[in-house]
Amino acid sequence: MSQMKNAIVGQSGGPTTAINATLAGVIRGVAKTDQIGTLYGCLNGITGAINDELIDLSASMDDGKLALLKHTPSTYLGSCRYRLDKEEDLARVVETLKKHNIGYFFYIGGNDSMDTISRLTAYAGDSGIQFIGIPKTIDNDLPVTDHCPGYGSAAKYIATSVLEIARDCYCYSTPSVTVVEIMGRHAGWITAASALARTSYSSAPDLIYLPERDFSTERFIADIRQALRRRRNVVVAVSEGIVVPQYDDDCGTRDVFGHRQLGGIGKALTDIVKFYIGCKTRSIEVNVLQRCAAHLASKTDLDESEAIGKAAVQAALAGETGKMMVYVREEPYSVSFDCADINGIANLEKKMPDEFISPDGNDVTAAFINYVTPLVAGEAYPLYENGLPVFLGR
Ligand code: F6P
Repeated sequence: MSQMKNAIVGQSGGPTTAINATLAGVIRGVAKTDQIGTLYGCLNGITGAINDELIDLSASMDDGKLALLKHTPSTYLGSCRYRLDKEEDLARVVETLKKHNIGYFFYIGGNDSMDTISRLTAYAGDSGIQFIGIPKTIDNDLPVTDHCPGYGSAAKYIATSVLEIARDCYCYSTPSVTVVEIMGRHAGWITAASALARTSYSSAPDLIYLPERDFSTERFIADIRQALRRRRNVVVAVSEGIVVPQYDDDCGTRDVFGHRQLGGIGKALTDIVKFYIGCKTRSIEVNVLQRCAAHLASKTDLDESEAIGKAAVQAALAGETGKMMVYVREEPYSVSFDCADINGIANLEKKMPDEFISPDGNDVTAAFINYVTPLVAGEAYPLYENGLPVFLGR
């Protein structure tokens, strides 16, 4: 066996439009160096390392496939939500890594996935294996980094969809309230991006409710009444994670990290409007559509996501370990790359700061619009065949 160390890469957590662009970046980064041997892909996140389920990415990828991979949403390697907290699992991961002569471990994921990097660094830090996290999440809630790969595309999809929803709603003269429910458990970044839908010909969303602020039903009803006085068709953007006191049932299923499965708050709000105001209502749960909308990907997001994958390989070769890659924003807008200690990131959530939320709590500020605008810039259409996008299957 060659003395040269090999590398392994895994993907974890909820899918995004850009997570495969990052995988493509890692593959290209490894292909470019003569200091790393084979790059293995770990199937279904860390469970692939526990069960020694790997594929050889160095042998199976060429330029054409990598170009397709960049535009293929969701996780090419599969994903998991798995807490790596058992000694037995940690030992099996290290056994797999040693068996394949791994020197570099790359893990692309969100808060919970960074917990995996943190635990592996603590458990096997002196094994000579370097552990690097690469951020990914539509929720945009990882600390330190300016923003997260995947967020710009989700933001673009949401803003475009709210603009199109408004076109639909505005065609009737009948008063109506449409509530659009958007992902985001404790942080309202994606919902906030709906504000980009406002143009000279469309005022939607008229109201924006974020989990960073306590929700008051009385205040909501007053807001809606006031909005209906201004215009016939009101569009509301709401984060799935807001807590409406009367509707707070805690009986949903939970994942291994204790997160309750969300969904349905938009319907609860339209029920409230129907009861107290009595006009036409509709609730739209965007749900998973916002995670894999490759046809509306942000070019900025895909390009940066690929570049941060390559930068992760450079960081590993420079000797970094126990770190997560981060974007550093430069003005005029561009990003450079750095890496930050995983322990200041794992399991922590970055909420929207006060300066991005309007003082009355039902809108965003100009500062937020300035922050988010460059992230949705540019189109990155996938390849189309027979009228449909072409993705890379495994
Ligand atoms: O990936 C983040 C996220 O999309 C959250 O906004 C959402 O609440 C959660 O994942 C849903 O996850 P799952 O795919 O496990 O249902």
